[in-house]
Amino acid sequence: IKKIGVLTSGGDAPGMNAAVSSVIRYASSNNIEVFVVRDGYKGLIHDWIEKADLNYAQSILTRGGTAIGSARLPEFADQKIREKGVANLQKHGIEALVVIGGDGSYMGAQRLTEMGINCIGLPGTIDNDIVSSDYTIGFDTALNTVVEAIDKIRDSMQSHNRAAVVEVMGNHCGDLALYAATATGAEVLSTTEAKLSEQEIVEQVTTLAQKKKRSVIVVVSEKMYPDVHALAEKIEAGSGYITRATVLGHIQRGGTPSAMDRYLAITSGMFAVDQLIAGHGGLCVGLDGTTLVAHDINQALSMPKQDKIKEINKIRSLNAEFIKQ
Ligand code: F6P
Repeated sequence: IKKIGVLTSGGDAPGMNAAVSSVIRYASSNNIEVFVVRDGYKGLIHDWIEKADLNYAQSILTRGGTAIGSARLPEFADQKIREKGVANLQKHGIEALVVIGGDGSYMGAQRLTEMGINCIGLPGTIDNDIVSSDYTIGFDTALNTVVEAIDKIRDSMQSHNRAAVVEVMGNHCGDLALYAATATGAEVLSTTEAKLSEQEIVEQVTTLAQKKKRSVIVVVSEKMYPDVHALAEKIEAGSGYITRATVLGHIQRGGTPSAMDRYLAITSGMFAVDQLIAGHGGLCVGLDGTTLVAHDINQALSMPKQDKIKEINKIRSLNAEFIKQ
């Protein structure tokens, strides 16, 4: 194999640059030329494809976001659109591709493999919602951003004897909310996997108010309640705490990647290139414990979600203790 491409697709995640950098450096050390495809699958069909060098690889390694750009392109499900992408790759002599993104991006990688371009997917998303990998590139950095933000909100709530609702990202996966609530000692947690009704949240906060808890943090996953500001008003009316709401939003997607995200990105980038050198395609890289493994993409996409309800209830029980005292 002489020429490969690399692209990032879907929502950007801290550590994507480290993965791209790793692919460029490791492939180059194996005498393979690397081309970056700008703006994900969109760049593939528009021929936004450029040769990458080692200086570029070094310059992006530690940066947040994705320097080569990303996009969401639902049209890539269309065979005719993909044919344009394949033709552009062939024009440059690119035989294979590393695709860094989420589940949706893996689907495109599988289809391209079926069309003769071997693709390897890397798990890049802050959501940690790729079932075939214990952790995804970007999750650790986003989690640290969320924790830092909640700690700051706590300082203020504790000073003023207030409650706060904090909405975090996750796209139907509660991991960011669960890990952040655990790390910050948040009193109330509601995620997609274990949703509390608005009434239940009000009741839990009201009980804590009756127990004279000085401050209360309610962590909720996005896409669960129509309006967290309205939820804060209901909590205020029920519990008596002055209650504020914060939607952390895209602050969670940016920032310098943590050492753990860089480590995962760089090791999985090399692992992906090894798969391509071995002539494999249609695979995605996942972390299984501390070991990197390659899964067949079709199988990976149909793996059942891990049941987190026990874990969530256990974390919730830490605050049940406060209520009992
Ligand atoms: O997948 C990453 C993510 O940030 C999700 O947490 C969120 O639901 C979504 O992307 C937001 O997408 P956009 O940036 O396109 O609004």
